[in-house]
Amino acid sequence: MSGQKGGDGERGLREVREGLAVVLAGNGRPGNAEEQNRKGARGPASRNTLFYNPAMRPNRDISVLLAAAVLKMGGMGKGRRGDGGECVEFLDGMASTGIRSIRWLRELPLLLDTSPVLRIHLADTNPACVEEMGRNLERNGIPEIQYVISGGDCRRLLYGRRFHMVDLDPYGTAAPYIQAGIEGTANGGILAVTTTDTGVLAGTYRETCIRRYHAVPLKNHLGHEAGLRLFLGYMMRTAMSLDTALEPLLCYYSDHYIRVYVRVKRSRNAARKMMEEMAMGVYVSPLQRVEKNPWPATGPATGKGERREGTEGKVFGPLWGGPLMDKDILDAMEEIHTAASTPGGERSLWDPKTSRLLDILHREAAVEPHTPWFFHDLDRIASHLHTSPPRMKDVISFLSERGYVAGRTHFSPTGFKTDAPPEEIERAFGIR
Ligand SMILES: C[S@@+](CC[C@H](N)C(=O)[O-])C[C@H]1O[C@@H](n2cnc3c(N)ncnc32)[C@H](O)[C@@H]1O
Repeated sequence: MSGQKGGDGERGLREVREGLAVVLAGNGRPGNAEEQNRKGARGPASRNTLFYNPAMRPNRDISVLLAAAVLKMGGMGKGRRGDGGECVEFLDGMASTGIRSIRWLRELPLLLDTSPVLRIHLADTNPACVEEMGRNLERNGIPEIQYVISGGDCRRLLYGRRFHMVDLDPYGTAAPYIQAGIEGTANGGILAVTTTDTGVLAGTYRETCIRRYHAVPLKNHLGHEAGLRLFLGYMMRTAMSLDTALEPLLCYYSDHYIRVYVRVKRSRNAARKMMEEMAMGVYVSPLQRVEKNPWPATGPATGKGERREGTEGKVFGPLWGGPLMDKDILDAMEEIHTAASTPGGERSLWDPKTSRLLDILHREAAVEPHTPWFFHDLDRIASHLHTSPPRMKDVISFLSERGYVAGRTHFSPTGFKTDAPPEEIERAFGIR
């Protein structure tokens, strides 16, 4: 980032460089959107500000890499541009400065062998953003045929037509935008959503979670995975009511937000199949697997959870019980990232934090298809077994050498996923 250089102090704007984009954005002084976001970003005072959050750079980096991977692997479908040419149309529904769109437009042609013909629709309810994002697009030399800017609520656009990729990035919860997002994504297209109400989804505000997502959260060390699955479950249940299925391509938790990329499939059969992966969870102990109970519930919770009712059995959900990642997409993202990170490549496109996050997500995607949902936690198991935690790499190699699948998870530095039964995990801890 280059601070005030090239900014506009009078209008409270500073110049920001991110990837290949250069934009003017809110200057971070009290009263502007960044400051207000820290305080909750609500109310009229935030209307005339131009929100830019540098901490969300990895979120935008990943969105460029994922779009590149999906386009490279056969795409999201195509539409017709005003001039009759074929193009792929994205909606940056809450575009603010327009930085995400500018990055797609400038970086995707560089990352792909063939340049996709992209047209991006940018929307924002804030008139100040609508005005400035146009200037930002011009500042980056983007030809007008490649974008359309609309003021107002992005849901109006989403209920009016369909896009090949839809990105929704609200302040706080994304719950009010899910139905419109599903409706406005083309068959085979990608819906990308950020939600920052992780405190609600991870169980700190249980009642709010039940009201907002119609689901009971889990408040313990697994709360973030439960929260992500619960948010996905909410998206899936909304999709089902529209005879639509959502296929998770990459869904992860990072810092203070959850990010979800799903492929939209307009098919009643696929929606029925998806329903089979919905479940209630029963948490028993850090050593036991989280049990899957049927959803909708047809009776009291079953399995160990029920037997331990009143002690450790905690029922939560409904939630998505299927995969969170698609290994092929992660392989393609990793390949694009590596190719552009070689000397002479575009290494500076990505924050080092993005590279670390992608690396762990990529490794996790290889382990995920062979392991049950939910991870185990070294520290929690150690305290449950009244011992001290061994080193992560020792546990993983112990289990791998015995023929089990084991690997780290992005959810926690002390978390690991494995298909090993509890008694083998105990052995890895030197017990038994
Ligand atoms: C978190 S910021 C978006 C940041 C941007 N996507 C980025 O990557 O830098 C949220 C933006 O959504 C806008 N917004 C909120 N509700 C909206 C709605 N219903 N439709 C369109 N824009 C909306 C706000 O004005 C704000 O500019």
